[in-house]
Amino acid sequence: MNTIKSYIGNHKNRFVEELIELLKIPSISADSAYKKDILLTADFVLESLKKAGCDHVELFETPGNPIVYGEKIIDKNLPTVLVYGHYDVQPADPIDLWNSPPFEPVIKTTAIHPEGAIFARGACDDKGQMYMHIKAFEYMIAEGNLPCNVKFMIEGEEEVGSKNLSWFVPRNKEKLANDVILISDTGMIANDIPSITTGLRGLSYVEVEVTGPNRDLHSGLYGGAVANPINILTKMIASLHDQHNRISIPGFYDDVEELALVERAEMAKAPFSLENYKKDLDIDAVYGEEGYTTNERNSIRPTLDVNGIWGGYTGEGAKTVIASKAFAKISMRLVPNQNWEKITELFKNHFESIAPASVKVVVKPHHGGQGYVTPMDTIEYQAASKAYEASFGKKPIPQRSGGSIPIVALFEKELKSKTILMGFGLDSDAIHSPNEHFGIWNYLKGIETITYFYKYFIELYQK
Ligand code: BES
Ligand code: MN
Ligand code: MN
Repeated sequence: MNTIKSYIGNHKNRFVEELIELLKIPSISADSAYKKDILLTADFVLESLKKAGCDHVELFETPGNPIVYGEKIIDKNLPTVLVYGHYDVQPADPIDLWNSPPFEPVIKTTAIHPEGAIFARGACDDKGQMYMHIKAFEYMIAEGNLPCNVKFMIEGEEEVGSKNLSWFVPRNKEKLANDVILISDTGMIANDIPSITTGLRGLSYVEVEVTGPNRDLHSGLYGGAVANPINILTKMIASLHDQHNRISIPGFYDDVEELALVERAEMAKAPFSLENYKKDLDIDAVYGEEGYTTNERNSIRPTLDVNGIWGGYTGEGAKTVIASKAFAKISMRLVPNQNWEKITELFKNHFESIAPASVKVVVKPHHGGQGYVTPMDTIEYQAASKAYEASFGKKPIPQRSGGSIPIVALFEKELKSKTILMGFGLDSDAIHSPNEHFGIWNYLKGIETITYFYKYFIELYQK
């Protein structure tokens, strides 16, 4: 009989090799040119589930990318864990900033990952973290100690808003019925400071278009006499924050839940070094809403950020021109009580209302979703906490994250189950950025911790 530690010891090279194969397929969901690779990746995941021991696997076609499903039902009277993850990845650009090609994984050591990290797009978000669950499952099947039923649902559109999964979930409630949802698609504080993610922010993503004159104009002949859409757009954007760095859209904060001082004091106990934070980012000072700490600003407070802005001439040299149009993509991170559709509406009304008569403004909502808070007074949270204690030798710290996984709130609404977010990535793993990587230690530690979760979950469940 193998313990998980000895099983990992015997199979770790294969675990890493398999993940490397998965990372070689460029499953970029934002770009339809990669559709074939999306399908190859879905097949890879399906085959992995089959090989690991699922007794039923299925590929659900959607108008977008397929949803991979697999299950192992050992006893209808036992509880069921639903594992969710995503096999799609972010685009790799800017390609020039990668030290090695994004879809040719390499292992390199770093200061934080002395045992090596796999560098590739999707290594941490989310292929590496999703695959940990398949390997943990493989172990439990191989050793005959899977203590409950498992269902896997791995989608291919998380990075573009999970549109088809949002359609699929409410129509397959019975199939997806479960007692707890388990996701590894977040991070933890540090390898020696394990943490469990207890909150995700919501999101409203919009695109704005400002149109001035009907065509591009000579900036000498017309400059000064007509509205320059880029000047106007930047002015409008600048006005969205006040001098205290609060968002100035009327009603924006109405539903924000203000945390009690004791809760904020509890949060502030999490280890954090502002000095290291600044050093890591090479900045002299942080910046944000007055009255809140850095950790509060990026977790329990809502934000508004321009993600991209364009218009006019950006090529080599100079061109004297007043562009006809200017554009920006804007994201608002929301806290759990804020309704993303309402916020999108508030943004649209406000942005249109502040436009001067000299331009036309169009606001196009993209996607969005609700935030989520994991309750801690449940057996599943306790099971997760004990699992980290068993593998890290330390009690994990609950931590609200600034990121978003909008489908989690929908799971709660439709499937009536709570989600446990067991993430093993680090903020420095550069997800969505060039040189994304995932520590091999983290990968193997994740596999180990997940198996303990099952063990404690069934123990507490049957108590
Ligand atoms: N895995 C991330 C979310 C995440 C990362 C949460 C780290 C907490 C810690 C996910 O793949 C992601 O990138 N989500 C998007 C939202 C989505 C609607 C595109 C995000 O947060 O920007
Ligand atoms: Mn992810
Ligand atoms: Mn992501």
